[in-house]
Amino acid sequence: MSSSVQRFDEKARRKFSRYGQTVVHRGELLRHPIYTRVLHWTVAISFVLSLLSGFAIYSPWLYRWITPIFGGGSMTRFLHPWFGLVFNIAFLFQFLNWFVPMHWTKVDKHWLKQARDYFTNKESLAPRDTGFFNGGQKLYFWAIVFCAIVFLVTGLLLWFDHVVPRWIVAISYVLHDIAAVIMLLSFIAHIYETTAAQPGTFSAMVDGTVSEEWAWTHHPAWYSEVTGVDAREAYERARDRQLKRSQAIEEWEKKERTGETTKPGGGSANYD
Ligand code: HEM
Repeated sequence: MSSSVQRFDEKARRKFSRYGQTVVHRGELLRHPIYTRVLHWTVAISFVLSLLSGFAIYSPWLYRWITPIFGGGSMTRFLHPWFGLVFNIAFLFQFLNWFVPMHWTKVDKHWLKQARDYFTNKESLAPRDTGFFNGGQKLYFWAIVFCAIVFLVTGLLLWFDHVVPRWIVAISYVLHDIAAVIMLLSFIAHIYETTAAQPGTFSAMVDGTVSEEWAWTHHPAWYSEVTGVDAREAYERARDRQLKRSQAIEEWEKKERTGETTKPGGGSANYD
């Protein structure tokens, strides 16, 4: 199955690359091609619209201020299943796009065990064997797969509730709402992780690239795979460079205070 999925995906990526390019500057790596980014933002927008319209239908209090956005109460009820359908279709393509790199492996179990040290900054680098996606990202992906199936099945039953037995409709409501709560909580965590918690991640989904520093910090095995350089070695080299640079600046400042300096740039300090 995975090779036919990969073939389909390759074809889609090639087609999309005709409509937009990803510019990779020096010191950056290509993370997500245009096809992936278009899918991701289609999923994200349709999800937010489904969530907002869904909450408006669920809660009379929210109904008052959200429904006008969609053109009134009955319009919100009408649009909600269509937003959901777009979400499901877009996510189906995203599923095919990420099916292979999201395979769960032993490495992900290892990542989960060390996740605490990594999140609390006790460890500055992710575990050495962390590939393109880490265990947390894979968990999020599979939670969406599970919730998308629940949304689709229960959503269709609720949409056509006039031909479905009442007890099935009642169970569908509960399952639909549980899936919405799981998705809302994981969505909040996802936004936090991809913005404030790990600076430099957001650009992966905007211009498609990340810095090499980001790659060796969060996904060392992927970094090594695409550059052929060991991530820890790259990190240590960068740390040494940084150390030398701050020592040179300190020295220069000391000399300046004691009046020994030549003009900046004329000294022998190595600012490389
Ligand atoms: C609207 C706010 C959102 C932001 C700022 C955002 C940002 C990002 C970024 C930057 C990545 C790339 C991470 C990487 O390359 O390592 C990513 C990946 C991903 N996004 Fe989003 N996203 C948003 C909404 C969503 C929504 C609504 C969904 C699905 C319901 C979603 C599902 C995913 C998945 C499954 C991944 C791959 C796994 C992961 O990185 O966690 N995203 N997102």
